[in-house]
Amino acid sequence: MAKNTFTLTDNRNGKSYEYDVLDGTRGPSVVDIRSFYKDSGMFTYDPGYTSTASCESKITFIDGENSELKYRGYDIADLAGKKSFLDVCFLLMRGELPTKEESQNFDLEIRHRSFLHEGIVKIFDAFPNHAHPMATLGSATMALATFYAEHLTLETEDDYKEMRRRIIAKIPTIAAMSYRNSIGVPPIYPDVDRYFTENFLYMLRAYPGGKMKNLGNGLSAEIKQIEVDALDAIFTLHADHEQNASTTTVRNVASTDAHPYVAIASGIAALWGASHGGANEKVMDQLKLIGDVKNVDMYIAKAKDKNDPFRLMGFGHRVYKSRDPRAEALKGLQDKLREELNLDSKLLDIAAAVEKAALSDEYFIKRGLYPNIDFYSGVILTALKIPVEMFTPIFVIGRTVGWITQWSELKQDPTSKIARPRQLYTGK
Ligand code: ACO
Repeated sequence: MAKNTFTLTDNRNGKSYEYDVLDGTRGPSVVDIRSFYKDSGMFTYDPGYTSTASCESKITFIDGENSELKYRGYDIADLAGKKSFLDVCFLLMRGELPTKEESQNFDLEIRHRSFLHEGIVKIFDAFPNHAHPMATLGSATMALATFYAEHLTLETEDDYKEMRRRIIAKIPTIAAMSYRNSIGVPPIYPDVDRYFTENFLYMLRAYPGGKMKNLGNGLSAEIKQIEVDALDAIFTLHADHEQNASTTTVRNVASTDAHPYVAIASGIAALWGASHGGANEKVMDQLKLIGDVKNVDMYIAKAKDKNDPFRLMGFGHRVYKSRDPRAEALKGLQDKLREELNLDSKLLDIAAAVEKAALSDEYFIKRGLYPNIDFYSGVILTALKIPVEMFTPIFVIGRTVGWITQWSELKQDPTSKIARPRQLYTGK
């Protein structure tokens, strides 16, 4: 069968350049312009990568027009709350859901790998109290590279497997210790008798010595199954999202042959920004700033005013120009939790009023601006008594599996090259 091609014509001199069109299994086809500079002496220009596919991948598929998100071919709605987060991690890394035995073994291995080298625990002492947990989490993750130097050269599939499992298991421990450091209380070590997500809540909430007493600061003592299930589903909804800003950062660092945990630390740095994962924290700040349903119209007007830098946090997405399926799943979870947990009804009312006003406003409709995952996660995490500064670290715990799977895919792709874009120079 003849190849499909795409021709570009330089209208200055009439020269034409023909390129292959590559088809994926789903989604838009791509024009393979890798030889364009060699052929024409010109670069293509696409800051922000709005039309650029930066890699080939088999992990996650998004159809942003039809609100579709699939991990390894499985619809997100069939995974979140239906399979455990650890089973979803297994699926992302291995391409198939685990058997019952594989699932049990994986769970057990992650429990046992959740401990940190004592050297890492000591590092927390050097950070000031009140440091943002994202800063501490990123720094301590970078420091992991000093303890696992052997992961710089991975040869066999078993080497990759061990490296991936280690980071997935340790990130929640680092995140919980980062939080405890920020409020000046001693760390809690993991409890191997607890499942991944319950263990994270335990490390956040337990009293020194591991007792489940009230820690103050809004953290309640006991851990309810409904809380574990809700947070587990939240982790799954954050687990991967193809070539987003932080994943692209991880892949760029991976392309230079740096240590995998250094690449993960760079993903944490990229995720922290308010335009990306940091938005969940900002949504809560904004709902509190709005303060009352009667102020919603004023803030919607500010968001539409091009002379005002105010943006409605938790709205809009580069890929989703219709509903974000993750937000839809969280909305369902929110309704369920509303009945069973003490959700802040005032904040919920403000959130509902913001959503209603935005979704019926021409400005938002015309630009395809819908609530994204961060719009709903904040209210739910608050009901789970997660402190607001831990919202983005929770995103990190969910996304680590995506980052490390994408890292592995790039490293195991023999055609991958160092990421090195070009520029349009307009200086002196
Ligand atoms: N409030 C008001 N206007 C907005 C918003 C918003 N939240 N988001 C986009 N717009 C407007 C822009 O001003 C622009 O208008 P224009 O066409 O008149 O210039 C138009 O919609 C397109 O916006 P861009 O910024 O060009 O879209 P882009 O794809 O580059 O940005 C982004 C996407 C960064 C998510 C943006 O929508 C935003 O800043 N949202 C708020 C922050 C947020 O919620 N981030 C979380 C995203 S989800 C995630 O990372 C997990």
